[in-house]
Amino acid sequence: MAAKRILMCRPTHFELKYSINPWMDMRRGVNRQKAMQQWEALRQGIEAAGAQVSVMEAEGADNLPDMVFAANAAVVKGNKAYLANFAHPERKGERYFYEQWFTQNGYECVGDLDIPFEGAGDALWGGSGYRTLFVGVGPRTDVRALKDITTKLDDGSSWKAIGCRLVDPRFYHIDTAFCPLNDQTAIVYPYAFDHITQHNMRNETDLIPVSEKDASSFACNAVVVGKTVLMHQQKSDELANKLEKIGFSVKYLDMSEFIKSGGSAKCCTLAI
Ligand code: ARG
Repeated sequence: MAAKRILMCRPTHFELKYSINPWMDMRRGVNRQKAMQQWEALRQGIEAAGAQVSVMEAEGADNLPDMVFAANAAVVKGNKAYLANFAHPERKGERYFYEQWFTQNGYECVGDLDIPFEGAGDALWGGSGYRTLFVGVGPRTDVRALKDITTKLDDGSSWKAIGCRLVDPRFYHIDTAFCPLNDQTAIVYPYAFDHITQHNMRNETDLIPVSEKDASSFACNAVVVGKTVLMHQQKSDELANKLEKIGFSVKYLDMSEFIKSGGSAKCCTLAI
């Protein structure tokens, strides 16, 4: 969505403390100073990409190293934030701090503590008029979240949520394999999803397929600001060239420290 505000959480407490996805290899430590520089560069890249967007900051918290992945905090519609209910105990504590942030910043918080759901990491607005919420289900988010989100974020406008079944453990959140560029087109690593999902997605938006190689460098975990697409440095320019042909400009960033935890640029941001 053409986000006016983006929430980010400074990686003050970021580290590899546990492993809850295939990218998190505990033998590889995180260089926090480097992570901080990469995070700052992302923030500056976003701010430089468009005057129409402003970045807001949430504080991280001790012992919650993944709070830096603000995407997972909630999915937002208008002034309502449907909060995450994290699948893994290691991340459950984040909800309290994000609920505080949203409340203090004038949002009404809704959600459900019985239904696993991981925020905008698993819920992306796209399709015509941004009226489709693509919800990743399987690894982290329970399919029951769809109905609950639809009810609790209802604002009288017409929109729908569609379930997108994730089938490859490397792509455990929808934002690791799918990224709307605007309300017409999205990039996708199709094989992260089951066949029915691939078909359903195509009914909602045009799709530009991304190779496995690019997807494995988190090409789909991109932040879109107007016509700028910010993503982790790719090994080939194939995707960037494709995007440039349709009027986007790609800005590469080094997100290597965050990739050690299974996240990249988009995971560090939340459109609010
Ligand atoms: N280590 C985090 C986890 O496994 C990474 C989260 C990435 N976030 C995202 N929106 N894909 O939960």
